[in-house]
Amino acid sequence: MPSGKSILWHAGLLVAGASLASGLLEKPKVQGVPQYVMDYAPLCYLHHQELYFPSDLQKHLDNTTPKDDNFNKIDGAPSPLSLTNLNKLNDYGDGGKNVWLTANDDITKDPEWIKGAAPDCDGKASDAIAVAVIMVDKGDDNMDVFFQYFYSYNWGGVVLKAFNAGNHVGDWEQNMIRFEKGKPTYVWYSQHGNGQAFAYDILEKDKDGQRFINYVANGSHANYAVSGSHDHTIPELNLGKGILMDYTDGPKDGAKLWDPLQNAYFYTFSNSTGKPTFTSAEPGKYPTEYLDYLGKWGDKQYPKSDKRQQEILGGISYKFVGGPTGPIDKQLVRKDVCPDNGNPCILRHIIGP
Ligand SMILES: *[C@@H]1O[C@H](CO)[C@@H](O)[C@H](O)[C@H]1NC(C)=O
Ligand SMILES: *[C@@H]1O[C@H](CO)[C@@H](O)[C@H](O)[C@H]1NC(C)=O
Repeated sequence: MPSGKSILWHAGLLVAGASLASGLLEKPKVQGVPQYVMDYAPLCYLHHQELYFPSDLQKHLDNTTPKDDNFNKIDGAPSPLSLTNLNKLNDYGDGGKNVWLTANDDITKDPEWIKGAAPDCDGKASDAIAVAVIMVDKGDDNMDVFFQYFYSYNWGGVVLKAFNAGNHVGDWEQNMIRFEKGKPTYVWYSQHGNGQAFAYDILEKDKDGQRFINYVANGSHANYAVSGSHDHTIPELNLGKGILMDYTDGPKDGAKLWDPLQNAYFYTFSNSTGKPTFTSAEPGKYPTEYLDYLGKWGDKQYPKSDKRQQEILGGISYKFVGGPTGPIDKQLVRKDVCPDNGNPCILRHIIGP
């Protein structure tokens, strides 16, 4: 039954379609990437108040230092860090798991590099490489394609309208498009600890009716199928509704259009031998070693003794939390459209927040 809200969403869709009539750059042509992966790629809207944009991976490495669990610099770590040597960090800290790419600057001072690259009017985020497109081929043009988006900084939002919490350095988020015989069927939208899966057919599209719209939440970069406000509780804590909100908006509110195809490297991934293997889609073109890194892409959670840290409401959250792991840790080989994390996998056929 169409509610008032869904009529509004349809109006939003028309506006989105109109604004996309101009401006987008041509899709890249990459050997080894089927045309349908490009044709059905997401288009993102970044919130009009966003301050932390898609970020160049190498620039992030240029501004961080690998540290251990005790906030000490790791002796012998490769220097300078690059996309072709980051995997060497797996030799430290329990197979890399306890390695933290730690900001060289005090991030409370908002250094330039954590702000990333705002997309220009063509939808391209400068020359930043901020996306790893990862294709997991299941044969017969059945394929899961991950668009893994990178941001150097996550602004965590405001808890109970009062406390800014959950900020961290480094942020990996993703859409996954499931293709069956070269046709998109479902799309996964990552949101904090989990996310949502929608049937491709019901998603908002650009004017060609092929590329679906991904609304990116202000600061947290959680991904949503509709613009508006979204309740999200703090993962693992059952605090009820309205405690922490995500906000997304569209072109009529001033959201910035971002075409992730313009800022991407392209890969295939296989784990059929039990050894996770990333391969450049076009042989030798894109570095793969950084994708093998098993550690964290940001600072470890600061201790309470650190003056930048603030404990929120007796520890329900902290102003600064630890940085995330990379694309390899996002269950690239999955049976369901959702990751297998104990939550039910709901395949939604009605669009909504
Ligand atoms: C968006 O994020 C910025 C900080 O990154 C914050 O100052 C602003 O209030 C946020 N706006 C909304 C609507 O959450
Ligand atoms: C690869 O396969 C092994 C063995 O089944 C499994 O333990 C590991 O988690 C898989 N890794 C990835 C990244 O899929």
